[in-house]
Amino acid sequence: EKAGFDHFMLKEIHEQPKAYRDTMGVRLDASGRKVVLTEVGMTPEQIRSIRNVHIVACGTAYHAGLVGKTVIEKLARIPVENDVASEYRYRSPIITPETLVIVVSQSGETADTLAALREAKRCGARVLAITNVVGSSVAREADDVIVTWAGPEIAVASTKAYTSQLIAFYLLGLYLAQTLGTQDEAAIAEVIAELKELPEKVEAILAQSETIKEIAEQIATHDNLFFIGRGVDYAVVLEGSLKLKEISYIHSEAYAAGELKHGTLALIEEGIPVIALATQHDLFEKTVSNIKEVKARGAHVFGIHEAGNEEMAKVVDQVFAVPATHPLLTPALSVIPLQLLSYYASLARGNDVDKPRNLAKSVTVE
Ligand code: F6R
Repeated sequence: EKAGFDHFMLKEIHEQPKAYRDTMGVRLDASGRKVVLTEVGMTPEQIRSIRNVHIVACGTAYHAGLVGKTVIEKLARIPVENDVASEYRYRSPIITPETLVIVVSQSGETADTLAALREAKRCGARVLAITNVVGSSVAREADDVIVTWAGPEIAVASTKAYTSQLIAFYLLGLYLAQTLGTQDEAAIAEVIAELKELPEKVEAILAQSETIKEIAEQIATHDNLFFIGRGVDYAVVLEGSLKLKEISYIHSEAYAAGELKHGTLALIEEGIPVIALATQHDLFEKTVSNIKEVKARGAHVFGIHEAGNEEMAKVVDQVFAVPATHPLLTPALSVIPLQLLSYYASLARGNDVDKPRNLAKSVTVE
């Protein structure tokens, strides 16, 4: 059932190219210039009436939502807020009939997310669910459902569900943009063309798993480390840090790279590993200054950057390149080495990769 892999997590990491293809599937029209989301029942008038979007979820799904915010704001120019589901209900969120609430849940059974969905509906919002389970509670109660066709996810640590959620956000962002006219047809076609190339690019990263394994074995000897990134890279390192904590039990913190100097630099000492994600061209120079700040304090920096960027190797100790793509799509590639890093670090520490301590796959209590 593990199809020759040692663990479900590794199998599921390797299933991502297929999960991307299946999730995009029939949602891209044959001309390659349009997104077709028949499952979204909102009329163009209803889409035009959306004033704001709330994305609500837990854990890894929340992290996918952070990327979703950037995607929707950049493509469709609608303001988006992210909330952790267990906080949402209790902060009296300002929800109106012009609010689109997007709940994201792999299982579709997470109690906190379901409670947030019900609160949003009670306040009159339209609720769109992104879920991996057809017929789940979240799918049944939402107004619109975008199914991520990742297939069953068995490992407790979510991998292919997260990346399929990213694909769902790309499709939704493009769909809103094409309906609202916030992007011209050529810009939309350009993102779609890049989307289609993602599965092969993921395969190219997976083919370099040995390199990540070596880095993971170095990291597994440490008890503390940091992740840094800016923009969508920050959203991705939050996910990378959660994954590492979850299965390797190594403590890590993910920081917006520019925020380190506001206190956290005090924790950077000789030899501490820092994983710096810098895929965004417009933010690269800024992230490099933050890398220099930690290097000056003795950190050992692993840099993840886009292929073709020759600068990263000059400022960090070790590099790993991911294939180049559209700036909004980099999370669907850059998270892969971080998933592999957690997997191999967990393995090096002798942990039960698929069933980390104290955790359940589906959290049905609030
Ligand atoms: C981490 C992980 C959890 C889940 C969270 C939400 O790897 O799997 O953080 O993402 O419990 O679960 P769903 O998406 O089922 O609502």
